[in-house]
Amino acid sequence: MSPRTSLLLLMSLIWFAATPAQAVQGWMPSAPRQEIEARLSRLQADPDGHKSAIAAGRRAAFFCVNCHGDSGVSALQDVPNLAGQNAYYLLVQIDKFGDGRRKDAFMSGLVKVLKPDERFNLAVFYANQAVPPTPAKNPAQAASGASHFARACVGCHGAQGHGTREVARLAGQRNGYLMTTLKNYRSGSGLRADPRMTGVAQRLSDAEIAALASYLGTLP
Ligand code: HEC
Ligand code: HEC
Repeated sequence: MSPRTSLLLLMSLIWFAATPAQAVQGWMPSAPRQEIEARLSRLQADPDGHKSAIAAGRRAAFFCVNCHGDSGVSALQDVPNLAGQNAYYLLVQIDKFGDGRRKDAFMSGLVKVLKPDERFNLAVFYANQAVPPTPAKNPAQAASGASHFARACVGCHGAQGHGTREVARLAGQRNGYLMTTLKNYRSGSGLRADPRMTGVAQRLSDAEIAALASYLGTLP
């Protein structure tokens, strides 16, 4: 963990300690799937509602910016961009942190203080932010990542790496986060577990993971 991340973690723990203990206990799942999907599609047909969800999400993100950056573009390699991520995927991940299907020392606690409406607005806000691509440091490595991606990943993540619904957007994602995440799926440690990803990740070598991460960062 970098000194900057440690400092943020410390600040966050202080913030936590200041929130009512009652709010931190237990987990209230977001609405059932169909309800979330219906609510997201209603917003597409409601420009004013869409705008106010984004504005409310931006307000609720005042604390997230410490790690995920302004508008969800992270400056830290081990923290993912949330900008441009699919709203439904973000809500599923928040539920996974909340009920223990995904584990992170910090995020698993934090999501418990977010109310369902805040989660929804945060997801809509982040989904509507732009994420800039990062040029590859090693173009040959990125090219090998591109061909591996075309063989093994496009079927679910799409040719541009934008994903769909609960399949994550990978385009423009942070290099360090992508590598750690693929290794977490591969290791079977339970930090990340999803049957659709575990099998795929178990077939990846370290070199392939590095190449894929380098390529995915370059995608707009
Ligand atoms: C102290 C730093 C920190 C803060 C503050 C923080 N996060 Fe995170 N967040 C992380 C880290 C680190 C991860 C990656 C965890 C992992 O490896 O699984 C993460 C992951 C996530 C993910 C999963 C993204 C993905 O691509 O799967 C979501 C969603 C998320 N955070 C939302 C939020 C929201 C919303 C807030 C504010 C309410 C917030 N985070 C505040 C550090 C932070
Ligand atoms: C069968 C469909 C499928 C295939 C094939 C697949 N993925 Fe995934 N991927 C998913 C799903 C679904 C998720 C979300 C899983 C979860 O909730 O943890 C995901 C999540 C991820 C994540 C986590 C993103 C984040 O923001 O945390 C990464 C990284 C990833 N995939 C990379 C890859 C790569 C690289 C390949 C090819 C080697 C690949 N995936 C192939 C379905 C797939």
